[in-house]
Amino acid sequence: MTAADGEPRGPVAYVGGRLCPLAEASVPLTDRGLLFGDGVYEVYRLYRGRPFRLAQHLARLDRSARAIRLAPPSLDWPAVLGELVERNGLAGADATVYVQLTRGAPASRGHAFPPAGTPPTVFALARPLAPPPAAWYERGVAAISRPDLRWGRCDIKSTSLLPNVLANQDAVDAGAWETVFVRDGVVTEGSHTNLMAVVDGVLVTHPEGPRILSGVTRAAVLEVAREIGIPVDERPLLRAALARASEVLLTGTTTEVVPVTRLDGETVAGERPGPVARRLRDGFRRLTSRSGGSEDP
Ligand code: PDD
Repeated sequence: MTAADGEPRGPVAYVGGRLCPLAEASVPLTDRGLLFGDGVYEVYRLYRGRPFRLAQHLARLDRSARAIRLAPPSLDWPAVLGELVERNGLAGADATVYVQLTRGAPASRGHAFPPAGTPPTVFALARPLAPPPAAWYERGVAAISRPDLRWGRCDIKSTSLLPNVLANQDAVDAGAWETVFVRDGVVTEGSHTNLMAVVDGVLVTHPEGPRILSGVTRAAVLEVAREIGIPVDERPLLRAALARASEVLLTGTTTEVVPVTRLDGETVAGERPGPVARRLRDGFRRLTSRSGGSEDP
């Protein structure tokens, strides 16, 4: 769709170095993202048009790309993404921005890297985001646990998400909201969230490393906890220890801070969201309303 001024109208995507109507945006069928899940991505949030911790998301995108030996394109990301947001009419809106890099679209399919010089595929989408349902926060959500069958580099935000997809569908099938992964008896994270629990008054969460994604929200929530005097311990947490947790909560870009009130069909601490989740969420909300995340203008 094009208006009289020649500007595309309706959703706009960034792909192949330019903005174009989403309906016309495409990548070749030989794209390695499509054939192998050979790519990395980011999702960040706009609060009233302001990016929340964009610098951290871009740093993680860069780390993820380098970790899979994909040279990140040298782009002025804030400018490119800012224009994408603007052109989608989201300059003052609550929205999410999705950015994906893949190892490009060579002429033929082969497992090893494509010929040197094959350009990566770079695309980005910006979509409005309705505020998450208040019931998530007021009543909490149900979660189930499943074995963590993922690979050994969960710190890379890879587009190869099949175990996460299957785990999340298991949650939906069970009438729950999230699946949390358990590896060797330890709760690592959720299918699209990080997990924290309050055990003996301490906020415990899995340490950063190859078994979890270093969540941007996780870092912000830990910052809030330290600021308001909640003791934090980043250590492996046994699934069995969740039985005596007074609170369990999930964090993520689209999730913010959500209390878990049922886990594998058992109630967590009386099936009511607890005070720590509320304080952390209030503190997190202050961060998001302050300036889009303290260090981002
Ligand atoms: N997922 N762990 C996993 C496996 C995730 O996929 C995500 C985010 C998180 C939370 O990270 P952050 O706080 O930086 O969003 C943890 C995004 C939202 C997604 O895949 O849509």
